[in-house]
Amino acid sequence: MSTVENFFANLWQQYTAINPQAEAIHELLAARGESVVNDHVALRTFNTDKLGIDRLGYLFETMGYENRGQYDFTAKQLNAYHFEHRENPHHPKIFISELITESFSDELQALVHRMDGQVMSKATQDPAFLYSGRPWDLTFQEYIRLLQESEYAAWTAAFGYRANHFTVSINHLTTFFEIEDLNQFIMDHGFAMNESGGLIKGTPAQRLEQSSTMAPLVNLEFSDVSHLVPSCFYEFAKRYPQADGRLYQGFIAASADKIFESTNRQ
Ligand code: NI
Repeated sequence: MSTVENFFANLWQQYTAINPQAEAIHELLAARGESVVNDHVALRTFNTDKLGIDRLGYLFETMGYENRGQYDFTAKQLNAYHFEHRENPHHPKIFISELITESFSDELQALVHRMDGQVMSKATQDPAFLYSGRPWDLTFQEYIRLLQESEYAAWTAAFGYRANHFTVSINHLTTFFEIEDLNQFIMDHGFAMNESGGLIKGTPAQRLEQSSTMAPLVNLEFSDVSHLVPSCFYEFAKRYPQADGRLYQGFIAASADKIFESTNRQ
């Protein structure tokens, strides 16, 4: 197994450990004879010097990735980059976003500063950091405090470094061609889908259609108590060819904006 394959195997293992929903859907697809290929994997962070997307993006650069896109999410106060592997297009794309902490209250900024202070700079220089979970203390009250200002801040503080979602590439499936049919299959098996902005985000004209499950609640251990909170979700993406015949590889900010809401409380 290559370094990159080994990295994704670790990331998937950590992700499915708290998100059995993704594993269950993956197995349902495997039972139909599908061999699932990931379109992209998404991670979340805060925009501090130590933890920002430039710093985490660098870890992907050391694994052969390069930055191929930048996105702004004004309403949620997020920045994002997407990375593609330079040599192997079969490696999933990476979508990393960061919270623009200066846009929030002094209290939120102080909390992020405190959390950031608990991370050893050296730890962030190893790709294994990206599947290390939450590297700081967080009480349930602090989580609730963050939630009042930003769902994204609360999720990132609670779950730390892990895949927020993996994304099934519909283009690589052999028994589903339309995103509608795959969505129906997922719902027929009892999984809740994110309907913010409609079940399907994006259009063939935008060259990307996406849908996702709603993140199920998991009993997460905070520093003081355990509590049920929305965890990770599973996404599905279908890409369409550009004028040059190649499949579009970017992201649509308006769609991603709605996908972020898959970790909202239902
Ligand atoms: Ni995504």
